[in-house]
Amino acid sequence: MNRTQLTTTADLTKEEVDFFIKDAEEFRNKRTKDLDGVIVASLFFEPSTRTRLSFESAVHRLGGRLITVANASSTSMKKGETLNDTINVIEKYADILIMRHPKEGAAAEACQSTKKPFLNAGDGANQHPTQALLDMYTIHNEMGKIDGLTIAFVGDLKFGRTVHSLLYLLALYNVKKILFISPEQLKIPNTYLDMLKKKGIELEESSELNKHMQEIDILYMTRIQQERFEDLDQYYQLKGSYVLTANLIKTGKPKMRVMHPLPRVDEITTDVDELEQCAYFRQAENGVYMRMALLKNLWKNYNIEAT
Ligand code: CP
Repeated sequence: MNRTQLTTTADLTKEEVDFFIKDAEEFRNKRTKDLDGVIVASLFFEPSTRTRLSFESAVHRLGGRLITVANASSTSMKKGETLNDTINVIEKYADILIMRHPKEGAAAEACQSTKKPFLNAGDGANQHPTQALLDMYTIHNEMGKIDGLTIAFVGDLKFGRTVHSLLYLLALYNVKKILFISPEQLKIPNTYLDMLKKKGIELEESSELNKHMQEIDILYMTRIQQERFEDLDQYYQLKGSYVLTANLIKTGKPKMRVMHPLPRVDEITTDVDELEQCAYFRQAENGVYMRMALLKNLWKNYNIEAT
């Protein structure tokens, strides 16, 4: 495994995913010096709580140092500087770059301007690869396996980058079935359906959650994302399409686990938080350990390549 940049999950192998899941577990509640003296640029041109702060916590836990952009309007991009020029300059100041950007394809574009270790922390509705890896780690930890599971994605499957990234990784395993539950306007794009069909995975699209509860092992809820809509009236029509409650969970398998990349708005009621089935806060914690594993290994590979 000689990866130094991570922009998409589409080119990850099963061996890499298994490796990162195992390595993330090694970092649980650990502090190391793997990034001793290493400067990491944390560039968030779009809002974030979990991804930015878990990455920054991961850097601190690995003994590294941070320079940060937490707001696009505080940079010279506000004055019209291009992304390529911005990255071309920041890569002179940092050893590793982490970037979130609202534009689809921005991560691949940024990598045209740097050969340094680079991690895509989300680019528009396209990809969120580190989230997908921490999701795989969470599924593995919660269920003890990935093969044989029925996984349901619920909500905004059109713009949901965490769903898009996770599908490429699930396609590497022998999952039993993937269910896509969404309003008509937010259906999973055909690209992903075609990719999964080629792998021979059983798929089903539906607009109803209640009738599928008995068959679901992992219920992956997503937020209807206001920021992705050009027509706000459409957002208000679709908001609240699915609301998971503790009562609804009781109709499902007792060992089912509920995941959500967070933030949530109204799609999971807070009475779910106390249930054993609620895995989304453990999922958010797992982000620190997965991001420690990614930072350590990409930095190690870069140094091996450089020698
Ligand atoms: N899961 C996730 O990407 O959350 P943030 O937007 O808070 O980083």
